[in-house]
Amino acid sequence: MHLWTILGIETSCDETAASVVRGAPLGPGQILSNVVFSQLEEHRPYGGVVPEIAARAHVELLDEIVVRALAEAGVPLGEIDAVAATAGPGLIGGVMVGLLTAKALALAAGKPLIAVNHLEGHGFSARLSDGVGFPYLLLLVSGGHCQLLGVEGPGRFKLYGTTIDDAAGEAFDKTAKLLGLPYPGGPRIEILAREGDPSRYILPRPMKGRTGADFSFSGLKTAVRQVTLAGPVDTADLAASFQAAVVDILRDRAKAAMMMFRRDFPGAETAAFVVAGGVAANGAIRAALAGLAAHEGFGFAVPPIPLCTDNAAMIAWAGIERAALNLFDPLDAPARARWPLYAAEVL
Ligand code: KG4
Ligand code: ZN
Repeated sequence: MHLWTILGIETSCDETAASVVRGAPLGPGQILSNVVFSQLEEHRPYGGVVPEIAARAHVELLDEIVVRALAEAGVPLGEIDAVAATAGPGLIGGVMVGLLTAKALALAAGKPLIAVNHLEGHGFSARLSDGVGFPYLLLLVSGGHCQLLGVEGPGRFKLYGTTIDDAAGEAFDKTAKLLGLPYPGGPRIEILAREGDPSRYILPRPMKGRTGADFSFSGLKTAVRQVTLAGPVDTADLAASFQAAVVDILRDRAKAAMMMFRRDFPGAETAAFVVAGGVAANGAIRAALAGLAAHEGFGFAVPPIPLCTDNAAMIAWAGIERAALNLFDPLDAPARARWPLYAAEVL
């Protein structure tokens, strides 16, 4: 079996990252280096990611980070098999910086380019860490995305549910802002929720019990706002009540998607339920979903936290999945602000 060695580059949001990964499907892969620079401090004063600042920071940082990733891996550019970079979806300025750098490296080194969908990167990260076999059910929960998908391979996804408004991570971040917590709010809410009473405030569970597996979080955020406007609140109790509502929604929607997955893949009795994306770092969410998976007869996998939040190892790994199928891209591959995963094969 050929082991691929691929350089991955990630610049679609506020992490500037490069990584070298070696391996072959179905994984696990060997992470030779995984350099991530988080631009948190650059964006913190604004309470969110400022696209222009992010793009400029990627320009300033990326060369050095690529050099470090190759050096830490002990693999010179000439010895890699391909360069993989996030080509979307994401903040277009940043995506262009990473993709253009990857094109220049590929051209200079005479190596093929792989234009990776960032969501596919998150989606395959459990194969990089745990060698999870296709097909599996994926809950992708991040700051920009909240989707339930059946995953069969590169570019082969069945969409079971998506959010009709905010992503789960966005709901965490907006709620944190309402509670006066600094950005990014997800981890802060989790810490605060540990000391709070989750039954103190009665909050809605939008879409719970509905046909299909779609999500909605904006009503929950609005309900939190109304509580904060009504008078002084116990922040820990409100954080705990909010998190309990999110857990409840995710569990209900994931259970609905499990039924859909069973219908589509009746033979996949030992299939896994994979949770990926930044929100998978949340311990309460992980525990609830692990319990659901066990109850419904699914395996369960969550990549380690550094592979859940934005990183380039998952992009390099998606490159390995694609390279193994001979799926390379031309040097004029476009950067895309929007690039839905479930339509990846038709775009
Ligand atoms: O995947 P990610 O790093 O970036 C993208 O959106 O692609 O996800 C970041 C999101 C943010 O909304 C952040 O608040 C959320 O993940 N997050 C968490 C936790 N850690 C990160 N949400 C809840 N609990 C956490 N512990
Ligand atoms: Zn992400």
